[in-house]
Amino acid sequence: MLTSDQILTKVNEAIAAIQYPTRPAGLYEPIEYVLSIGGKRIRPVMLLLTAQALGTDINKVMPAAIGIETYHNYTLLHDDLMDRADMRRGMPTVHRKWDSNTAILSGDSMLVLACKHILSTRLPNISEAMDTFITTALEIGEGQQYDMNFETRTDVTQDEYIEMIRLKTSVLIACAAKMGAILSGATPIVADQLYKYGEQIGLAFQLQDDLLDVYGDPKVFGKRIGGDILCNKKTFLLINAFQLANAQQLAELTRRTITTNYDEEQKIAAVTNIYNQLNIKTITADKINHYFMEAQRTLSSISLSPEGKQSLHDFALSLINRSY
Ligand code: IPE
Ligand code: IPE
Ligand code: MG
Ligand code: MG
Ligand code: MG
Repeated sequence: MLTSDQILTKVNEAIAAIQYPTRPAGLYEPIEYVLSIGGKRIRPVMLLLTAQALGTDINKVMPAAIGIETYHNYTLLHDDLMDRADMRRGMPTVHRKWDSNTAILSGDSMLVLACKHILSTRLPNISEAMDTFITTALEIGEGQQYDMNFETRTDVTQDEYIEMIRLKTSVLIACAAKMGAILSGATPIVADQLYKYGEQIGLAFQLQDDLLDVYGDPKVFGKRIGGDILCNKKTFLLINAFQLANAQQLAELTRRTITTNYDEEQKIAAVTNIYNQLNIKTITADKINHYFMEAQRTLSSISLSPEGKQSLHDFALSLINRSY
């Protein structure tokens, strides 16, 4: 059985081997660029780990795994445009290196290429796997719309936030786990349990992303620290800060989130200062741990070999301990 690191190497080799048309360069170069500048590849690794845990030769499901990663990178091109983000994986985002139209059109083409990769998987259950992917892709659009709607709202509840991150982030990790199961011919019960596992890991994963957005090390995070604060994103951190703030902190948070003409670094420092006063880092870390523990309970109930379970457990642990 391969470790998640060995599987990651195989994913990176498969991505490096993809041949894109050379013309028009303005369409395909940004696609190669974003796929070549790194990324943790957690979704394809998740798909391949579940397939492996169910006894499938991972080479047979590699096209589906590459499709999921291509899809994920498409969402990043559009997400960075929507979030006004200049940096990703330590490099300029596509809309900064090229322009907005490039991010839109190369992104659209990546969505199509993702479908093409997935459908090139030569396994009997491919149409069922594609159904799961399509349902998921629509949900991600819903999550992204909520994320944007929430920027201009000040009354977002924790439940609304959890549902938003479930849609924008968790369902793709869940879908990857389930596609690995479907393509391996697993029973619907096992496929659904693996979906649930991926969903719980996904919630922990997005909470960690929110945490790193404020407390990450700028040298390794690869994205601008404080990006969520600048966009008034209703992250778990900000929602909790609003709930726990005293009158003075509330006035400061409100002022910082409604003022449109501000110094960016001052805004980030002021909001982070309130997070520090309210111990928001620990509260978020506790919530991450809560979903990680839930996921491990789900995993323990799934009918998989002990080695298969161990590989999924180790992978999840590496995700919540990550620094980028
Ligand atoms: C970024 O995903 C978008 C989120 C859902 C937080 P990743 O953190 O997996 O980004 P890469 O692919 O490793 O760069
Ligand atoms: C992104 O969430 C979710 C999707 C791309 C669908 P974020 O906006 O938090 O991701 P980052 O922080 O830019 O990677
Ligand atoms: Mg973003
Ligand atoms: Mg976003
Ligand atoms: Mg983020």
